[in-house]
Amino acid sequence: MSALILPARDATIRQAASILKCGGLVGMPTETVYGLAANAADPEAVARLYTAKGRPLFNPLIAHVSGLEAAKLEGRFNTNARRLAEAFWPGPLTLVVPVAESATICDLARAGLDTVALRTPAHPVARDLVFAFGGPLVAPSANPSGRASPTTASHVAADMSDAIDLVLDGGGCAVGIESTIIACLGETVSLLRPGGISVEDLEAILGKPLSHTTANPDTPASPGQLTRHYATRAELRLNAAAPQSDEAYLGFGPVDKATLNLSATGDLKEAAANLFSMLRALDESHTRIAVAPIPMTGPGGAINDRLARAAKCV
Ligand code: TXA
Ligand code: MG
Repeated sequence: MSALILPARDATIRQAASILKCGGLVGMPTETVYGLAANAADPEAVARLYTAKGRPLFNPLIAHVSGLEAAKLEGRFNTNARRLAEAFWPGPLTLVVPVAESATICDLARAGLDTVALRTPAHPVARDLVFAFGGPLVAPSANPSGRASPTTASHVAADMSDAIDLVLDGGGCAVGIESTIIACLGETVSLLRPGGISVEDLEAILGKPLSHTTANPDTPASPGQLTRHYATRAELRLNAAAPQSDEAYLGFGPVDKATLNLSATGDLKEAAANLFSMLRALDESHTRIAVAPIPMTGPGGAINDRLARAAKCV
């Protein structure tokens, strides 16, 4: 079976919702990266999803919901969690909260944990698909486990075409890196994965610093934060002021000799949106890639996190 790419319209979104109701897998655009969606309440569909991604069963999935009211049926929101959801949903923020008694998301999707990861996507196609389906959709990034995330429908088809039923094409992903994952468990608010919402913006809403989980790559607090993630086949050299003669150069800002430039004007949002597609493009044509230094402010934290994992430097 080969995945069909269809432009996202009302009719194709309805078609995708019926595929999901029958236990199928659908590639879905979100504002962060493309996700591979399945019915969160159907253990057989979720098992197919783990197999399609080659994802270890101990690594739980994010469930996409229509908003805070739907999220509250799945997880228990304390004051901090509610405040963050109200400020940043719909948008690139995932909240890990204790699972609610009324939850419909199956155990397998949560990898048996007593917590659940929830987010309300801002992309209109993801939002419409969640509404048309009428319940939570789990959706990990639509790439084989450990490889760069997809930011176009053709990335999804190239990587996963044999395993999925349909890809909805909703164009490129405006944010380009995955959601920030925050755990709100008890009084502590911890950063599990940097992403589309910056630490500075989160702390401004909370009025206090986030606690950062100690990075132990063997037992990550967010199990997907394994050391070798987003891997390129090419060797990556980070913080490179200039390329060597046998290297492609992924630039940032006004640098010379860039093979591709994440943002010639030094705009970190633009750089995040370009990151995965430019890494993929250079990976196809080169065996060594040097990457220019990227500042750590705003989206730079998440960009540097992804680059370090791709280069196996964490
Ligand atoms: O932007 C995104 O978040 C994208 C789009 C498609 O929504 N999705 C995404 O999913 O990045 P995925 O599966 O590639 O990453 C989900 C991360 C993993 O690192 C997983 O370990 C973590 O969420 N996670 C899920 N449930 C968790 C839980 N209960 N506790 C801690 N971490 C959890
Ligand atoms: Mg992923």
